[in-house]
Formats: sequence, structure tokens, C-alpha cells
Amino acid sequence: MSSLIASEVARRRTFAIISHPDAGKTTLTEKLLLFAGAIQIAGSVKARKASRHASSDWMEIEKQRGISVASSVMQMEYRDCVINLLDTPGHQDFSEDTYRVLTAVDAALMVIDAANGVEPQTIRLLQVCRARNTPIITFINKLDREVQEPLNLLSEIEAHLGMDAVPFSWPVGMGRSFGGVFDIRRDRMRVFRAGQERRSDDDDLIEGRNNPEIAQRFGDAFAKANDEIELIEAAAPEFDHAAFLAGKQTPVFFGSAINNFGVQEVLDALVDLAPPPGPREAVQRLVQPDEPKFSGVVFKVQANMDPAHRDRVAFVRVSSGEFNRGMRLKVSRTGKEIRPNNVVSFLSQRRELVEQAYAGDVIGIPNHGVLHLGDVLTEGENLQFTGLPFFAPELFQAVEVKDPLRTKQLRTGLTQLGEEGAIQVFRPIAAGGALLLGAVGQLQFEVVAHRLKTEYGVEARMMSSRYSLARWITAGDAKTLQKFIDSNAANIAYDVVEAPAFLASSQAQLRVVQELYPDITFHTMREHG
Ligand code: G4P
Repeated sequence: MSSLIASEVARRRTFAIISHPDAGKTTLTEKLLLFAGAIQIAGSVKARKASRHASSDWMEIEKQRGISVASSVMQMEYRDCVINLLDTPGHQDFSEDTYRVLTAVDAALMVIDAANGVEPQTIRLLQVCRARNTPIITFINKLDREVQEPLNLLSEIEAHLGMDAVPFSWPVGMGRSFGGVFDIRRDRMRVFRAGQERRSDDDDLIEGRNNPEIAQRFGDAFAKANDEIELIEAAAPEFDHAAFLAGKQTPVFFGSAINNFGVQEVLDALVDLAPPPGPREAVQRLVQPDEPKFSGVVFKVQANMDPAHRDRVAFVRVSSGEFNRGMRLKVSRTGKEIRPNNVVSFLSQRRELVEQAYAGDVIGIPNHGVLHLGDVLTEGENLQFTGLPFFAPELFQAVEVKDPLRTKQLRTGLTQLGEEGAIQVFRPIAAGGALLLGAVGQLQFEVVAHRLKTEYGVEARMMSSRYSLARWITAGDAKTLQKFIDSNAANIAYDVVEAPAFLASSQAQLRVVQELYPDITFHTMREHG
């Protein structure tokens, strides 16, 4: 074990922000970059978001993808730490992509709009974090508005997360009477000051909850906050770092991202509380992050960054060892060797060439289809990591090519888009069956049709399908599975990795089949690997 690798790993923090659209993810991202010194003036991330929105008809998709890649991983240094922030697509139609990004982080920052509380999109993402026991830090945003009672918000979070919420700070007033936030652990109040683009260095701090100055300046708002803090101190559990790391407690911070308020505390919490990269379970063995040999997993593929060159960027989360530019790497799935030279890292706006990377870092490897989602790269060892989730689609469309002479291009395009995870492609057994596209969100079909046209020159015709749900199927032995497949051939299709799935037109139909075949397991999720 190299001590250099161990110390580099120890200072890595890799996390994603999860939130419902409009809770303030973009604003907070930007403010984190600002406080870490990665940008000087807030506004750039926001501007990118605006340009994304401006072309909301999704017909400017190439441009948008250029944009989203540049901002999809942000690395910043803060105190002695290297912080990697992985962006997740905001639109719920792309939530599958988000789930996969969550497999590449060691912690999540949940942003909640204090007026709306825990919203549906956040709940789905939370389930993924919960399933993986990802530690979650909570930031309750927009305290400068008239919002819900903080105590109510806490109980809502506890109910949805199924874990204890431990407030680290507590708001004094809200909206027009918002006076600031009381830091419970340091026993001091930070007084709110509306500030926007830049960070200011002259903090207004009042030491001690018993300090008469607080009561004088903030009157009723402080009296209420004081009562609430006493209540919490009596009722809420003590913060327990091990419980947080196990995903059983979440520390809670209050603030207003747009006003730079509470951002510093969140950044400090990431450094002080969030874990460095830990060991990762491979099928063969447990892989330690500070092992000398490199390994990493492709958790995201972005194809056709430059349509003229058919290039793709594979996003690799480093799991162990040290990455050096130009080193030879083996793709576990195929045994092929690659020697990536122009590997890029992502630093706020710029794409930079990577010289070295360690566990927790994300590197982007441009390639021409050699790397698929879920692929593992090593220095030679054969490793497979599990856990990259594919969710059973909830929407289906059959796809056909308008010009039969372009059938081959359609297949190529769909295979590549399927490998990228943009859509799921199913090949029904039934003879003459058109390919089926499965999606979690409607928008995915539009994006795929558009990309088939612009990137592969294929006019695709999308048609409604009689199927409305799919379940991947497995059985205790191959014979039982094959028997089931043979007897239900009309409803069986294979996905891009040749995993068989049962397609049903209704829940009722699925239930009947499940009862008829107790030896078959029907899965709503397929893990790559
Ligand atoms: P998202 O990425 O989660 O979708 O949210 P985003 O940061 O874009 O924020 C959504 C809206 O909430 C934005 O307003 C943003 O300015 C506002 N916002 C973020 N943090 C705070 C806060 O602490 N207090 C208040 N009052 N508002 C906040 P918008 O009108 O949609 O955009 P803009 O015109 O302000 O850019």
C-alpha cells in the first residue's frame, strides 16, 4: 500500500446533489464553487442552465450535451480536500441516468425547498441512496422566504428518509423576519445578510445563545428559535458519525443559497463529515481504494459529443490505485487493452487533461465504442463490479425505420444509444417483431428520435406498443428459465446485454403469470455486472 495513494484517497470527497427541480440545486452548486474558490463570481453555472432551458424543445440537443458534459463533474479544492461534485440531470425523465450517477458517489447532499418540503422527485432519489446506505447531508434552502415551520420540516424529512434528522443549525425567523442561523454545535449565531454574487469575508457572528445581544436584536424570532432548540436538544438524538456513515442519521443545515447563506457550513460538513472513498465490492473480492493498482468503473457514457467523429466519453469513477495518463488499461468485459492519452477531468467550466487521478475522482475517456456502461478498467486483473442499476421501463414504443435501406443504421444507432443508457432497447423473440424501446420518461423517446436522425441519418417511426411493463426474469436453473421462455415466447424480449425480459400489457397479466410460474423471479431492476 502506498502512503501517497492513501493520503490522496483520504482527502477525496465525492458527492452528488439530489433535489426536486427548483429547490436550488444549481444555485447551491454555484455557491459551493464560489466558496471553494473555484470560481470568483457566481453566474456561470446558472447561465448554462438558462441556455439549457432556452432550448427546451430538445432540438438543440447536441449543444446541450456539450454543455452538460462540461458541467457534469466539478472538481474543487477546499481546505485540504479535493471535492468532486457529480451533477445529476434535473429532468425526471432522465432519472435513470441520475440513479447511475448515484452509484459513483460516496455521499449525497439533499437540497429541500423549505416552502415545499420533501417533494416526489427527491423521494425517488432518496430511495436509491437508502438502498446503498449512502450518507446524506440535508440543506434546507430558501429561509429568506415565508416557508414551513422548521420543526415540521424535520419531521417530514424523518418520515420520508426513515432516519433521524439531527439539526446542526437552526433558523432564527424566516422570510422578512429572517435574522440568521444559530450554529447549535458552536453555540453562536451567524447573522443573515443578503448577498449575491460574491462571498464576503466580514461575517456578523454573535457568540453564545445566552448572549443578551441576540435577544435584543432578534426579539420574538429568537425567543421562538430558542424554545425550539431546547426542544430539539431534549428530544433529538445526539449526532453519531457512525450512524450518519451508515445512512441512519442525517445532519441538517438551514440557509439561503441565493444569498450565500449557510453555504460555508455545508462545504465544511462535506469535508468534516462526508466519508472519503471506501472499499468497493467486486464479484471477485473487496477492492480497497488505496491499493497500488488502478481500477475504475464506467458509470456514464455520453455519445457523439462531436457527431462528425462518433466519439463518446466514458465517465470512469476511479475505485482504486493511481491513474496516470498514457498507462495501459484492460477492459474486463472484453479483455481488450486501451491506452488512454487524452483523458479529461472536469473543472467547473474547463475540460482539462488529467495527469493523475485517485479513488473518488472521475475521469473522462474519449473512445469509439470500446467502453460500455458498467465496464471495469484495471491494470490487468479481471474484476467486475455490481450495482449499476437499470430500471424496468414504464413506457414502450415500437420503432421502425421509414426507409428500409437504412435498417442497419437504425440497429447501429439503437445499439449505441442503448449502450449509452439513453434508452433501453428490447428485441422481441416473436418473428417480425419491430424493436421495442423502453423508457422511464416520455422525453427519452423524443431525444432518441432526434438523435437517430441527426447522428445516424435515420428517420425512425415510433409507434405505440401494447406493452406497459417489463420484468427481467431469472430462475434457479437454466432449464426452468428456458422452459418459461419457450412457453411465453410471444411476451419475451432480450435487452442489449441479451438479458431476457417478460413484457406484459398490464399489472393483472403480470400477476397471473407470476402466480402460474412461482419458480421464475421477476425483477424490476437489473444490475450490470
Ligand atoms: P434547481 O437547480 O434545483 O432547479 O434550482 P435553481 O438553483 O435553479 O433555483 C430555482 C429557483 O429558486 C431560482 O429562481 C433561484 O434563484 C431560486 N432560489 C435558489 N435559492 C434560493 C434562496 O435561497 N432563496 C430564494 N428566495 N430563492 C432561491 P428562478 O426565479 O427560477 O430563477 P432566477 O430568475 O432567480 O435565476
